Amino acid sequence: MYLGLDLGTSSVKALLINDDQRIVGSATSELSVQRPKPGWSEQDPTDWISACEAAIGKLEHAHGKALAAVRGIGLSGQMHGATLVGTGGAALRPCILWNDTRSHEEAAALDADPRFRALTGNIVFPGFTAPKLAWVKAHEPDIFAATSKVLLPKDFLRFWLTGETISEMSDAAGTAWLDVSKRAWASELLAATDLDDSHMPALVEGTAPGGTLRSALASKWGMRGSVTVAGGAGDNAASACGMGAVRPGEAFVSIGTSGVLFAANEAYRPNADSAVHTFCHALPNVWHQMGVILSATDSLNWLEGITGKSVGELANELGNELRAPTGVTFLPYLSGERTPHNDAAIRGVFAGLAHQSGRAELTQAVMEGVAFAFCDSMEALKAAGTELERATAIGGGSQSRYWLQTIATALGVAIDLPGDGDFGAAFGAARLGLIAASGSDPLEICTPPQIAETIEPDTKLVPAFADAYTRYRALYPAVRRLT
Ligand code: XUL
Repeated sequence: MYLGLDLGTSSVKALLINDDQRIVGSATSELSVQRPKPGWSEQDPTDWISACEAAIGKLEHAHGKALAAVRGIGLSGQMHGATLVGTGGAALRPCILWNDTRSHEEAAALDADPRFRALTGNIVFPGFTAPKLAWVKAHEPDIFAATSKVLLPKDFLRFWLTGETISEMSDAAGTAWLDVSKRAWASELLAATDLDDSHMPALVEGTAPGGTLRSALASKWGMRGSVTVAGGAGDNAASACGMGAVRPGEAFVSIGTSGVLFAANEAYRPNADSAVHTFCHALPNVWHQMGVILSATDSLNWLEGITGKSVGELANELGNELRAPTGVTFLPYLSGERTPHNDAAIRGVFAGLAHQSGRAELTQAVMEGVAFAFCDSMEALKAAGTELERATAIGGGSQSRYWLQTIATALGVAIDLPGDGDFGAAFGAARLGLIAASGSDPLEICTPPQIAETIEPDTKLVPAFADAYTRYRALYPAVRRLT
């Protein structure tokens, strides 16, 4: 048995697989995000531990015997968060999350230092970890001075599980301190934020062992013998392991809180100017590129909040048949945007509203706006040398067939839907736990799921979507100085 733990933004998920990679059971426990000021997004790291204990507790209740037979654990987590740990091992302040944009000035200053793009291959985005530390140094100097380790969210869970401070390449690549080509901390980038290697966890590959479960926890959950905790991965690379997107050209589109268009690459192929993210994959000697949009299902959740209609009700109002764009354009920049604009200050926009624009037209525009944001990410991947013909869909938003049709038609690529199962980050993490504990070949384990259905672009609507994408592209430069 192997256990995958995915520390998401809205929940912790624990998922058990057996030696044949069959899912035995899964359980989740919800998390909330605190937004004490505009642009801020925080979570208390002790809530992660409580949620993790609760999710594992539910698994124990339903599958106690299977849980006790676990030999390997894999971790996945929301990326980029700055979890600052003091000498006593406690978090010194709430974690500053991936979608927090308070450090946009510090990010711009670091990004202007050419060493950052040269060594990391990426723009220093405000959501990344390094500029957050620069913000803490400027605004909370006592906390900065008391920081003995900077951990990524899932590595804080690992610290609780194993007592060790370890990270792995895929998540470390999102800090802006990793030499992404060499897969090692870049001391000169750490020095540029007044830190050094001693503040950083040790690094392993995602498929390698990265600690052993503390005996107190092992006996609490009935596990005997030593339980290996794998390096694991940032949630996107972990999802890729779950979906089998590990070989060159294999791609997925994740419609979650954030939206991600992800492709695996056999080599390090950066192109920071296009705002594509180029990170290490969880497998040794594999890299990946991705475009990241900050509000995907979050945009629809926002519409749910202001209309008082659930996401399901909103989607139902659209019916099953894909509609032509109505002329209402939505920019999904509710908390700024990464790919392609790297703009923390921009905010969402509805344009082209008419008397006949009702709730359904707004829902349609929100779904189209997110789809067009994925088009921008596809252009960014193209600029970085990766052309996509198809992508597999994952994430909560992929439950809406209407949204999938919208995305396929906007992108002009086929969207594959896996058959029954759960191939996301927690499953990918469980696979990494299996690989690290058993020494199996990662490529033999990280295979793609059976595809149940393919959603093709609606060819008769492709021209109308192309026109709507042109309007979408024109809107950002027209409004950027107004929001
Ligand atoms: C990736 C990113 C998000 C988070 C979401 O760069 O910021 O996808 O990992 O959990």
